[in-house]
Amino acid sequence: MIKKKIKKILDKKNKTKIVCLTSYSGNTASILDKHCDIILVGDSMANVLYGMTNTHTMTLEQMISHSISVKKKIKYSLLVVDMPKNTYLNVKDAKKNAKLILKKTGCDAVKIESNKKNYNIIKNLVSIKIPVMGHIGFTPQHKKKFKVEGKSLSQKKKLIKEAHEIQRAGAFSIVLECISEKTAEEVTNSLKIPTIGIGSSKKCDGQILVTDDLLGLSGFYPKFVRRYAKLNKIIDKAVKKYSKDVKLGKFPKTNNSFN
Ligand code: KIV
Repeated sequence: MIKKKIKKILDKKNKTKIVCLTSYSGNTASILDKHCDIILVGDSMANVLYGMTNTHTMTLEQMISHSISVKKKIKYSLLVVDMPKNTYLNVKDAKKNAKLILKKTGCDAVKIESNKKNYNIIKNLVSIKIPVMGHIGFTPQHKKKFKVEGKSLSQKKKLIKEAHEIQRAGAFSIVLECISEKTAEEVTNSLKIPTIGIGSSKKCDGQILVTDDLLGLSGFYPKFVRRYAKLNKIIDKAVKKYSKDVKLGKFPKTNNSFN
C-alpha cells in the first residue's frame, strides 16, 4: 500500500508542479512547510553549513540530528532525508541505516544518489516499505567534477535508462541534477513517477533549490539559482546596527533588563 503522502506527490505528475526546497533546521522548515510539497534534508549541508568542500564525510548522526530539528517544526510537507555517502554500500547496511533514519527522525522517505549500480538497494528498501527518491545527473557523492549531463545522444540514452531502472526498482520520484533541457524533458515524459529538477530546466515535474542559495545566504549562485532575497544584506544591516547600539550603550535599555 502506497502511503497517502507519497500518493499525493505521485498524483501531481502532469497536473501541478511539485515545489521542493532543502532545510537543515526547524526554524526555516516551519516557514517552508506552508509553501512546499517536499522538504529535503540534503547532504548539501556539508558545503552550506559545515564549510566542507564536498558531501563525502557527512555522517548518519549529522543527517539525523538536523532532520529531527526539521521534523519537529513541519506538519504538511513530505520530509525526505539524504542517505549520506557510504551508508548504502550494500543491502544490509542500506536497510539498517535507512530504518534508523526513519525511526529516529520520523521522516517519510530517504534519497539515494544513483551510481548506475545501486538499483537493487532501492528495490530492497522499497520491499520493506521505505519510500525512496532517486537522484541522477550530477550526483555529488559519486562524481568529483561538476558537469552538465545529457548533452550528447549517448548521455541522453544512458540517463533515460538509469531513470527507468530507478523507477523499476520502485522509487517514487527522481531528482534530476544539472541535466540539459531536452534530456530532462525526455526523461520526465518517459517516466510514470515525477522528476524534480535542479539546474535541469522547467521541463521537470517539480523543482528543488538549496534554500540558502535562494535566500542569498550561501554565496553560491550558479546560473540555475534565482536569488529571491538578499538575506546576507539584511543580516549585515541588522548586525551592524546591533554592534553600534552595544558600543554606544543604546542596547540593552531598561525594558530589556530585569529589576
Ligand atoms: O543535498 C541536496 O541538497 C540535494 C539537492 C540539491 C537535490 O541533493
